[in-house]
Amino acid sequence: MRMIFIGPPGAGKGTQAARLVDKYKIPHISTGDMFRAAVKAGTPMGQEADRYMKSGQLVPDEVTIGLVRERFAQPDTQAGFMLDGFPRTVPQAEALSEALTADGVQLDTVLLLEVPDRLIVDRIIGRRSDPETGEIYHLTFNPPPPEVSDRLVHRKDDTEEAVRSRLEAYHKMTAPIIPFYETSGLLQRVNGVGTPDEVTAVITSTLT
Ligand code: AP5
Repeated sequence: MRMIFIGPPGAGKGTQAARLVDKYKIPHISTGDMFRAAVKAGTPMGQEADRYMKSGQLVPDEVTIGLVRERFAQPDTQAGFMLDGFPRTVPQAEALSEALTADGVQLDTVLLLEVPDRLIVDRIIGRRSDPETGEIYHLTFNPPPPEVSDRLVHRKDDTEEAVRSRLEAYHKMTAPIIPFYETSGLLQRVNGVGTPDEVTAVITSTLT
């Protein structure tokens, strides 16, 4: 299965992708997670990405496309993948298309997780992640168990100001890829409003 998850920041892509990769036994490729790992490791690419991420701007296409090309060179992507947060611009979508064509493979589906902007800020501000397990929580909607509370982290770009920039970048730069996949018949729209379990149920029925 070769899938892409598109959706605004905080739509629940990471939450849902983690559940789907378990079911389909495919790698979860999140460009956001890869950039955060590079920032943490202090690599030159991480330092460059950090400048954009902190303020909620997109990392330049050439850096992002290079990162994904390297990831695709790893053998675990042969059987399929779940892309989360990539592509996010028309040039990224074109680069992905070219890479898949060169490999003689095709995408199976593109899931668009739709959540209105008015719900996004609350989801983002309350998000906490567990650096040990990668689990994503929300202080209200998916509260963490007390025993992990002390080690949870709040992302640097999960501020109200950065979220506004991220939403703006989504509408300006990412929304234009929706017609690209709609025209090719791959796009499936999923209502991302509801509990995480309800959204998983909608996605599962969409994929069967
Ligand atoms: P990235 O990490 O991809 O961030 P994002 O797209 O903004 O998405 P998020 O991770 O914020 O949200 P999500 O949809 O995964 O939601 P989650 O499941 O966590 O990118 C970060 C930055 O990296 C970008 O701003 C950019 O700078 C750079 N970058 C990354 N990829 C790039 C690219 N391709 N090109 C250029 N730059 C790139 O859920 C959010 C919260 O809501 C959680 O607390 C969760 O518990 C809660 N929640 C989830 N589902 C529900 C639900 N159904 N109901 C209530 N709460 C819910």
